[in-house]
Amino acid sequence: MTVQDHEYVPGLAGIPAAESAISWIDGQVGILEYRGHRIEVLAERSNFEEVCWLLLHGALPTASELSGFRERIAAHRALSGEVVDAIRAFPPDGHPMAAIQAGLAALGMASPEVDLSDDASCDDAVVRILAATPSIIATFERSRQGLEVLPPDPALGRAANFLWMLTGTKPDELEAHVLDVALVLHADHTMNASTFTARVVASTEADPYSVCAAACGSLKGPLHGGANERVLQQLEAIGDADAVPGWTESQIAGKRKIMGFGHRVYKTKDPRSKILQDLATRLFERLGTTKIYDTALALEQIMLERLGDKGIHPNVDFFSGIVYSKMGIPTDMFTPIFAISRVAGWLAHWREQMQDNRIFRPRQVFGGSHGAEFLDIADR
Ligand code: SDX
Repeated sequence: MTVQDHEYVPGLAGIPAAESAISWIDGQVGILEYRGHRIEVLAERSNFEEVCWLLLHGALPTASELSGFRERIAAHRALSGEVVDAIRAFPPDGHPMAAIQAGLAALGMASPEVDLSDDASCDDAVVRILAATPSIIATFERSRQGLEVLPPDPALGRAANFLWMLTGTKPDELEAHVLDVALVLHADHTMNASTFTARVVASTEADPYSVCAAACGSLKGPLHGGANERVLQQLEAIGDADAVPGWTESQIAGKRKIMGFGHRVYKTKDPRSKILQDLATRLFERLGTTKIYDTALALEQIMLERLGDKGIHPNVDFFSGIVYSKMGIPTDMFTPIFAISRVAGWLAHWREQMQDNRIFRPRQVFGGSHGAEFLDIADR
């Protein structure tokens, strides 16, 4: 092993891969900031459209900036007929995250070419992607259910319009607010796997549609954004709170990961999961509790006792699925909701990467052999 080979760190754990000013985490204390704003303040006082502007432009928007931004987004929510037709042709049993990934590629095919050297062209693409991502997934959901694809409602914000296009009913104020806060919480998170994916693809000077489609593929994984869907499946498999101790011991004994817990950076409770837990409490107070929530609270308690001292605590995915499930959102739609939020962070990182770009091309530690002899197939 040469000296340089000792530098290899699996998963690049703790290794800086980019310089960024977009978000910041203190994993020991449990702090998350977007452009210097604490996530608790943004969740309480802001909304997703404002947070998109904050991530992209570095400061909260003025009233006129926000209204102009909202108008541009609303104007691009409706998908073109060819994109809707493409989505309608997707295999209905496919996973909705694959639908977003393919839908973004189709959107890119139907959108103006992006000139990376032109700020207006890049900004136009950002608005088109931000606006269309919820419409792509809502269109897929309606199509796979054999239902009419619904037009966007320009009078509604992102969360409310998504629920309208997804379910065909205008959401009540609490549900729209809860989803909007969830979108704020998921918008960016420093150098997570899908954002790193976005920056690698961006560094090749690929277009932003390809950047976001690639990031979707990364987010889909169960160790990343796909965990929220598996948290609900896990809670349903446990059954009820009484079964939690036995189930947990079996998981730990089998060295199987418990979905919704642990984090590469947070070694305390993820600040976003605290906020989502508060939202869940408000929803369950309003709509009535369920066995799932009671099971989740029991699991959180026993995990604190068993693995808390190892720094394994609930992450953002632990309570998000419970909240979405209470709102009647299909389980395989949980990660797409993560994606319609994190697309704002991916796009902010795309813009930032292109300001001082260098193509990612790391090294490897070679573990193979040299001088192999080539034998003809008859001699192998
Ligand atoms: C997200 O990076 C981000 O910022 C991601 C995210 C974002 O906003 O973008 O926050 C969103 O992806 C949250 C994470 C969602 N994933 C899950 O809930 C899946 C379950 N969690 C684990 O797979 C794991 O905790 C990770 C993937 C989140 C972190 O993995 P690491 O940092 O590589 O840690 P590890 O797998 O090396 O585990 C270290 C130790 C191991 O024990 P030992 O071998 O040292 O004895 O902790 C144990 C692990 O077995 N461990 C767990 C565990 N997570 C870690 N044991 C049981 N259950 C778990 N969930």
